[in-house]
Amino acid sequence: MAIKLKAQDIKLIEEVKAKGNIPNHIAIIMDGNGRWAKKRSLPRIAGHHKGVDSVRHAVETCIGLGVKILTLYAFSTENWKRPKEEVSTLMRLMVKSLKSETDELNENKIKLMSIGDTHSLPEIVRQELKSAIEKTSHNDKMILNLALSYSGRWELVEAVKTISKEVLSGKLNPDQICEKTISDNLTTAGLPEPDLMIRTSGEFRISNFLLWQLAYSEIFISSEVST
Ligand code: IPE
Ligand code: IPE
Ligand code: MG
Repeated sequence: MAIKLKAQDIKLIEEVKAKGNIPNHIAIIMDGNGRWAKKRSLPRIAGHHKGVDSVRHAVETCIGLGVKILTLYAFSTENWKRPKEEVSTLMRLMVKSLKSETDELNENKIKLMSIGDTHSLPEIVRQELKSAIEKTSHNDKMILNLALSYSGRWELVEAVKTISKEVLSGKLNPDQICEKTISDNLTTAGLPEPDLMIRTSGEFRISNFLLWQLAYSEIFISSEVST
């Protein structure tokens, strides 16, 4: 992930930085891979390959801006319902990218994290993810948080289960349950909420992303699929 930003990107980053007020935490729904490919009469899979470049570009831009946390929605709980071939391509791409990018994450002092139901991921993805997380755990310049097999409702259900067990065991009095009890039981516990949520490709939906955490985030939807 060596910085490969174009001169115009670097200029833009400098302009934005000069204005100040850089978000601490940006969350992105990286959408539109399929439509990008369709526009070029290519298979959806070509769009997913191109999507990896977009991830790199987003990470590099955030490094340049000095953003501290970047959460990327890479694969949702609902995405499991996609055709088998598409799902396996996405899983293969994840393994390949985790393998090839870990060294560069370290060079840029980026700590990798993930949120989501990782148990449902294929063993090979789990292994690569675990390894990349371990290898980058000492980094402190930026957090790259990948939402994989993630959905906001799944996360809330899990939190309710954990809290209920604490109540049943007598560890927690239901009257003491407050917003912090919930936040502390989400997969993002300990992370500040996103200041800015971006969705690429023009759909005005949250699609089950960070339902609790986006309560006060600014939202930006970028225009339809880029050319
Ligand atoms: C986002 O692009 C990537 C994933 C969901 C993994 P899409 O695959 O949803 O592309 P569109 O929205 O159909 O264009
Ligand atoms: C959201 O995009 C999930 C990711 C980008 C990983 P989708 O394309 O899956 O969401 P919908 O189907 O438009 O709601
Ligand atoms: Mg989509």
